[in-house]
Amino acid sequence: MTENIVWHDQTVSRAEKEQHKGHKPVLLWYTGLSGSGKSTIANAVEAKLFELGCHTYLLDGDNVRMGLNKGLTFSEEDRIENIRRISEVAKLFVDAGLIVSTAFISPFKEDRARARSIMHQGEFVEVFIDTPLEVCESRDPKGLYKKARAGEIPNFTGISSAFDVPEQPEIHVKTAEQSIEQSVEQIIGYLREAGVIE
Ligand code: PPS
Repeated sequence: MTENIVWHDQTVSRAEKEQHKGHKPVLLWYTGLSGSGKSTIANAVEAKLFELGCHTYLLDGDNVRMGLNKGLTFSEEDRIENIRRISEVAKLFVDAGLIVSTAFISPFKEDRARARSIMHQGEFVEVFIDTPLEVCESRDPKGLYKKARAGEIPNFTGISSAFDVPEQPEIHVKTAEQSIEQSVEQIIGYLREAGVIE
């Protein structure tokens, strides 16, 4: 219900926040299969940005599902709600002037498109952590693929639930072909070229 609810503009403008922080606000939306390296790369990029003096915040998969999104399952309906809430929270942090990173599988292209649509032009950067299923499965850091193959986890992304491959991500990271450091450089390089950081 949005009846009788009126939007308020804020007193401190986005431009003022930007000037104060010394960089532009942006949302780095990491997407990829379980075990693809989303969290690892997002954490490493955040550490680098922090070192450069940027104001950052990272919303990370399992942690958010233990708090804000506790109780949501991996059904299609709950994944949609998971991503909807995350994108709204990320938008608030971007409004605060931060470089925000979200590391969730976010398997459905409609949900990623919706997240993009609520952000200002140029403030949504889709980062596809492209790691082939075979590689993710051979890494299997949490032993989940093994359980999924044994039929112990229903709706497991890549096995029994879909992952829509991003068609035009701003950044396409092929983790099987480069080191973590090279992936971090690729993302930091993009942010420099886009004028987000100096
Ligand atoms: S989603 O699809 O965006 O809502 O998923 P997300 O919130 O990123 O959560 C993914 C992590 O949950 C664990 N897990 C599963 N993943 C996929 N499918 C099923 N059924 C599932 N059950 C539990 C898994 O550890 C994912 O962690 P990551 O960090 O992606 O490897």
